[in-house]
Amino acid sequence: MSRSAHPAGPRHADVLPEGHYSAPAADLNALDPKVWAQTVTRTEDGSVSVGGIDVSALAEEFGTPAYFVDETDFRARARAWRTAFGHDADVFYAGKAFLSRAVVRWLDEEGLNLDVCSGGELTTALSAGMPADRIAFHGNNKSVAEITRAIDVGVGRIVLDSFQEIVRVAHIAQSLGKRQRVQIRVTVGVEAHTHEFIATAHEDQKFGIALADGQAAEAVRRALTLDGLELVGIHSHIGSQIFDMAGFEVAARRVVSLLAEIRDEHGVELPEIDLGGGLGIAYTSDDDPSEPHEIAKALGEIVTRECEAARLRTPRISVEPGRAIVGPTAFTLYEVGTVKPLEGLRTYVSVDGGMSDNIRTALYDAEYSVALVSRTSDAEPMLVRVVGKHCESGDIVVKDAFLPSDLAPGDLVAVPATGAYCRSMASNYNHALRPPVVAVRDGEARVIVRRETEEDLLRLDVG
Ligand code: LLP
Repeated sequence: MSRSAHPAGPRHADVLPEGHYSAPAADLNALDPKVWAQTVTRTEDGSVSVGGIDVSALAEEFGTPAYFVDETDFRARARAWRTAFGHDADVFYAGKAFLSRAVVRWLDEEGLNLDVCSGGELTTALSAGMPADRIAFHGNNKSVAEITRAIDVGVGRIVLDSFQEIVRVAHIAQSLGKRQRVQIRVTVGVEAHTHEFIATAHEDQKFGIALADGQAAEAVRRALTLDGLELVGIHSHIGSQIFDMAGFEVAARRVVSLLAEIRDEHGVELPEIDLGGGLGIAYTSDDDPSEPHEIAKALGEIVTRECEAARLRTPRISVEPGRAIVGPTAFTLYEVGTVKPLEGLRTYVSVDGGMSDNIRTALYDAEYSVALVSRTSDAEPMLVRVVGKHCESGDIVVKDAFLPSDLAPGDLVAVPATGAYCRSMASNYNHALRPPVVAVRDGEARVIVRRETEEDLLRLDVG
């Protein structure tokens, strides 16, 4: 994906090449299981249900826009990751993808650990009862208050991101009379094939300490001398929405060679490596993500092989999937407000949400799918752009998709695979009220994050 201006439409010189659009699906009423949560099906009367509940009933009860998360699917995916990695590895769910107290409980029950990257995420995790020693604390600029709290409550590890932070964390730990388990985050210098804003292993970006020029080795040297720190491992996260395992392979190889260097220089074999998150999911039928057992097998084999070659004991591996667990488990339900055909161009379908509940399309040129879910239709497909209700033309939810040409105001449409980085990046732009997250399971639906109200807005505006 290249970084380009928002496609504001062909009239703004951004004409999409001939053949850009995939042909419409043979049956617009079909729901591709690749992009929809596990329990989503079309019922006999033509509408769509999740967890056994019809979307029209959900819209009636909870309003639109709203995110619906399929709890059965979430738990199944969390369990699949846990099972795939087994007892010799740890799975840390990356809370930034989406975090709420209900999610923390699901993770705890399914045996996953949790990554947090802010004081707010840490508070959410602790308040839902996640044991502190199963929490890892990340971030390139953790505040002194955040570090102090994390050490004080006993987080399992802090991932150090800079030379200054090595000293800062050591100092705080020592002043609290503690020795904090830490990993050092390194940048391994691989280009992950993803959007520039979500690639993190090349050197020209803000995260981690470069392996190049012996910088990571120097960071290790310093960390090993500080009493407040117990250095347990090396961490690498190469980026997000990645399908190609080659980047992970290079990262694992380079991290293992650092472990060998550390052994040779200090006589210490660090017991852990963390290969981060970043595994891609299907946003459209064109995407083909790997299954957790394939990923676990591939990563396990790479690390074992590299360690054997370097004559190192195989360290304990951990991974940090966020999107791959929560992303596919949710969809956003919208009501259509207007349908505006632009002759010779496309039809603009305006829904009752937009960039405030899904910024990913505007920010990363992300692709999404969309379906009419309140009924079936046999009408011809029409090329649409699904847009929100915000005051700017970049307010696009789904750039190009096909919907039935009899689509009308009042219809419900749903955008699948919005579980990750949609609610967590939602905003109040134009004083929009952030939508609720509703968990659905076995015929029951319950709000896990409520809809914002105008009182919420006014409460922050102190006048
Ligand atoms: N571990 C670390 C250290 C991370 O920085 C991230 C994501 C993850 C794990 C989880 O990555 P995942 O498996 O979810 O791809 N807002 C962007 C994604 C930013 C990811 C930031 N770090 C998006 O909407 O695509």
